[in-house]
Amino acid sequence: MTSSNDTATRKTILSGSTTTGNLTLGNYIGAVSNWKAMQQDYDCFYFIADLHALTVAQDPVALRERCMSFYAQYIALGLDPEENTIFVQSHVHEHAELTWILTCMTPMGYLNRMTQFKDKSANVKNVHAGLFSYPVLMAADILLYQADLVPVGQDQKQHLELCRDLVGYFDNRYGAGALKVPEPYIPEVGAKIMSLTDPESKMSKSSENEKSYISIIDQPKKITKKIKSAVTDSDTVVNYDPENKPGLANLLTIYSVLSEKSVPTLVEEYEGRMYGHLKGDLAELVVSTLTPYREKYEDLMKHQDYLRQLMRAGAEKATARASVTLADVYEKTGLLPR
Ligand code: TYM
Repeated sequence: MTSSNDTATRKTILSGSTTTGNLTLGNYIGAVSNWKAMQQDYDCFYFIADLHALTVAQDPVALRERCMSFYAQYIALGLDPEENTIFVQSHVHEHAELTWILTCMTPMGYLNRMTQFKDKSANVKNVHAGLFSYPVLMAADILLYQADLVPVGQDQKQHLELCRDLVGYFDNRYGAGALKVPEPYIPEVGAKIMSLTDPESKMSKSSENEKSYISIIDQPKKITKKIKSAVTDSDTVVNYDPENKPGLANLLTIYSVLSEKSVPTLVEEYEGRMYGHLKGDLAELVVSTLTPYREKYEDLMKHQDYLRQLMRAGAEKATARASVTLADVYEKTGLLPR
């Protein structure tokens, strides 16, 4: 990756997370820790995807509270609102507007192939159009900011491909230059942290089973309990075998990322020791990693006026960039200026 501290030549990064639950250890490892690492070298736009949350039914009061809480979690995790643009998606109306233009050129068949749509709609009685066209909103999020790089976990790869293809569809119809093709940035280790109760599926903040995920603001006791009761297998030898021992492999992956030790090093360290030892040590590591973030979060939540102020400033900065792209798109599309 190229990097530069010169603002004028810095590349742009954009990413976000949907406000359905609290950020999890999976979100932290797969995405937010990378956002954090990138913020010194790139011009970063990080946002709270509250419009995305509406793809499933939300209680309005809870949604509003969660949005505030999410913003505090971003800042507590170390995203710097002074250096970067940290904003709430619905505060920048250009997201919804560009989505409509892109929706008008997205093939239905393409959206039908989205694996996340298939998973999320599988057991839902009334599937709404928003859930179906959700990846188009995601493309608009990215394209409005002329993002070069989009750091995400593995589950977003297919959505990023659609986003890249949409630039091609737009260029073919209206000519090139308004939108930039982004590159995904997916970490080599930790791009898919698995559920603690069902290691065959992804750790998800919207899971109904609270034991399946660790929230970054969980209390230490809760974290320890969840890790100690994480589903593993009945063997006792610590080795990395994602196919036959997915639960243990997941714990080793989390351990490796947080300790910055390679998986083979950890396997060597735990030779001749039981799973219980590893779980105990990992619980301590997760607690010591997350505790400072939770404390900062609790403090920030006492200062909601300050958070509001940061949100407003973030929305202004984001609008300044997004409105230029949208004006260009409107012009190319043939919409008559006001
Ligand atoms: P969301 O909120 O599901 O997840 C936020 C980020 O965390 C990553 N992630 C994971 N990484 C590793 N292991 C896991 N178990 C895990 N769970 C989630 C996700 O890949 C993501 O990077 N649609 C997006 C939000 C979004 C977005 C965007 C992202 C909206 N517009 C534009 C990038 C660019 C979502 O729901 O992420």
